[in-house]
Amino acid sequence: MKQFIQNLPKAELHLHIEGTLEPDLLFKIAKRNNLKIPYNTVEELAKAYNFNCLQDFLDIYYQGANVLIYEQDFYDLTYSYLKKCAEQNVRHTEIMFDPQTHTKRGISFKTVITGISNACADAEVNLGVSSLLIMSYLRHLSEEDAFKTLQESLPFKDKITAVGLDSSEAGNPPSKFMKVFEASINEGYIPLAHAGEEGDADYVWEAIDLLGIKRIDHGNNCLQDENLIADIIDRDLALTICPLSNTALKVVDDLKNHPLKKMMDLGLKVTINSDDPAYFGGHVNDNYIAIQKALNLNKEEIYQIAKNSFQYSLIDDLKKEEYL
Ligand code: ADE
Ligand code: ZN
Repeated sequence: MKQFIQNLPKAELHLHIEGTLEPDLLFKIAKRNNLKIPYNTVEELAKAYNFNCLQDFLDIYYQGANVLIYEQDFYDLTYSYLKKCAEQNVRHTEIMFDPQTHTKRGISFKTVITGISNACADAEVNLGVSSLLIMSYLRHLSEEDAFKTLQESLPFKDKITAVGLDSSEAGNPPSKFMKVFEASINEGYIPLAHAGEEGDADYVWEAIDLLGIKRIDHGNNCLQDENLIADIIDRDLALTICPLSNTALKVVDDLKNHPLKKMMDLGLKVTINSDDPAYFGGHVNDNYIAIQKALNLNKEEIYQIAKNSFQYSLIDDLKKEEYL
């Protein structure tokens, strides 16, 4: 089964580039930028990756991202993730990046987007991995701040396919970002959002009805509401499920109790993704292998999930045929 998963061509649809910062690369970049970090060794840092909830993780994740300063840092971060994709036969990836995490520290939008997009362009040629970029708004910040970010992105519009919504979900409902999503759609960005990771089914309803999202990041809590499940199936929205993230952040207590199989049996379209692989203990294949084992998924089910990853990607329909 491991070999079957390795050989399957796959796409990754839920990945935060800042969440791919492995402890060794974090140390390397901190050193060359002359930055002090509050850990002495790679092992000490890795030990701190023990979370009780989403916020526990976010505190460490934003702290880690502080070492990223120069275009080269964003390039190295992105290229090393794309190398991992090539090793795991991930042929296409849709990368989220959080501009506000960096612009808040005085790093320019241009530095961030140029480093990331140059790495994507090089990886497409050298590694045969294609990418699209999703600019994610941080939901713990104001809508006004998101509007500022939208403005900053406009000179680089040709490099960005979609907008997303991430960070602390509880207390920051999709409705808070209705206007900026409307403006983003008017600029040609495809709307996506995290919903139903820690937030209730109401947040998933809002993301669909008020933001008009075309895919649901996580969406686990849609299972609380039968009408919502029917609506998601009706609209043919896929869920980007992240098994190892869900156990690391205690969204699910044990992989054996993960709702992925139940979702498939209900007719929901699911994909398997790594979310923040440096923090949750595994890349795409590790997520496939862990959930396959926990839920005893068969080859047909695994194949269907991999097929969904291309089918529900943002690749142009005509180009999709080259992957399927
Ligand atoms: N930012 C990075 N990973 C995230 C997650 N799993 N949920 C919300 N925001 C995030
Ligand atoms: Zn995420």
